[in-house]
Amino acid sequence: MQDVHPTPSFTLTDVSGGLPLLGHLLAFKKHPLNAMSEWWHRHGDALRFRLGPKTVYLFNHPDLAEEILVRQSDRFVKVYEQQRPTGLALVLGNGLVTSSGEIWKQHRRVIQPVFHRSRVAAMADRMVQVGEQRLTGWSAQSGQTVDIAHEMMQLTLEVISQTMFHTSVANRIDQISHALRVSLKYAFDSFHSPLSLPAWVPTARNREFLRALRFMDELIFELLTERRRSGAQHDDLLDLLLKARDEETGTGLSDQELRDEALTIFAAGHETTANALSWTWYLLATRPEAKARFHEEVDRVLQGRTPRAEDLHQLPYTRAVFDEALRLYPPVPAIQRKTVTRTTLGGMTLPAGAIILVGLYNMHRHPAFWPDPERFLPERWLNDERTSPRRAYMPFGAGPRACVGTHFATMEGTLLLALIGCRYDPQLAQERVEPEVMVTLRPKHGIRMTLQPRHQRVASA
Ligand code: HEM
Repeated sequence: MQDVHPTPSFTLTDVSGGLPLLGHLLAFKKHPLNAMSEWWHRHGDALRFRLGPKTVYLFNHPDLAEEILVRQSDRFVKVYEQQRPTGLALVLGNGLVTSSGEIWKQHRRVIQPVFHRSRVAAMADRMVQVGEQRLTGWSAQSGQTVDIAHEMMQLTLEVISQTMFHTSVANRIDQISHALRVSLKYAFDSFHSPLSLPAWVPTARNREFLRALRFMDELIFELLTERRRSGAQHDDLLDLLLKARDEETGTGLSDQELRDEALTIFAAGHETTANALSWTWYLLATRPEAKARFHEEVDRVLQGRTPRAEDLHQLPYTRAVFDEALRLYPPVPAIQRKTVTRTTLGGMTLPAGAIILVGLYNMHRHPAFWPDPERFLPERWLNDERTSPRRAYMPFGAGPRACVGTHFATMEGTLLLALIGCRYDPQLAQERVEPEVMVTLRPKHGIRMTLQPRHQRVASA
């Protein structure tokens, strides 16, 4: 078939300064984001480095990203193997993020309908209700300093739980956040610690991981058992999973499959959005003109009342603020794949089994595609002032494995920003905010912010 837009040729560069045996392991382990960003600035869009025995390819150009994630997606596949789970698969098992092949296809067909635009729109009121409940707690903390990253994590955890599972986890939020943090850290460390001991060896770290995993398993199985027992119909994710039947055999999902899919949505559905919201508050606090324009929009459109799905089209600046935060701090800073066979990519030849990273963080700051790339400029997303090249922007990934929760996350993000922005002006109360990669891109020590109340509410929805 004729290639309508041939990918230009790239030169693969080896990152300099690797040590014998270890390669670039120490620099990467110490600060993966800084390492990837610095190597990109030094060596360009296509580069190669070593993490101990592993060779890793890092690509930072939209043409290469499109080739890997979209056009040649059958050759660049997920890295996880069901028989020998590593990384995220240690936690999420064989759920939608980590599975592949026929199982992935079947399960994506089952889960996709719950994320249809119209169904997501129907969840708006519940998202805002959860936000309102948490803001009630904030009123006692007005003028006080909180960790906004922790607050956003609690908020989005309750949103995912109430929208997808029709259950409140409000009384167990701290334990769940802790268990997820422990297990995701363990999963991420296994990427750059190729020699770490298997989980069954009783080290303190392994025991802590297994305890966290057991806690999450018990939580998910409790949700499943309760729904089966009550027979309640909510038309939510849990209902879809429990009703799913194989087209040929008529059998339902096994308990393990149900656990993996439910835990995947639970984890993938809140952690990413919480980080996106935390970075948004941080960025707004660092640019007063953008914050003033955001406040002007939410005040004018909402006049103090609670936002609804119908308000979204009148909140373009609020949406642009969220999109711009996703550009500068993409919650998934790099997407991982491996080659199935020897493969040609942009004139380079990659061996079978090569580990690939698509560097979203770098691509989103690429000077060839973004004017003034390091600046937080929501204006670049507005139709009349638009300067953003969509091709170099993929916070939700691209191709067949793109995020199933894209609409959900953008709606949730925009509504919660509007709701909170009407009532509070979180002000930065810490000097340095440092990003850290732990599967997702999060603020390493949280973000301490003072909850400055804005004007009183005018009306209620
Ligand atoms: C701002 C928020 C979010 C961001 C930035 C984000 C980002 C991403 C990215 C980049 C991928 C692709 C990973 C890859 O190609 O390897 C992905 C996949 C996925 N996301 Fe999200 N996500 C967000 C919110 C959500 C939400 C709210 C949900 C569910 C409620 C969700 C569920 C998933 C699932 C299940 C997948 C795997 C899809 C598949 O492989 O079929 N995400 N996400």
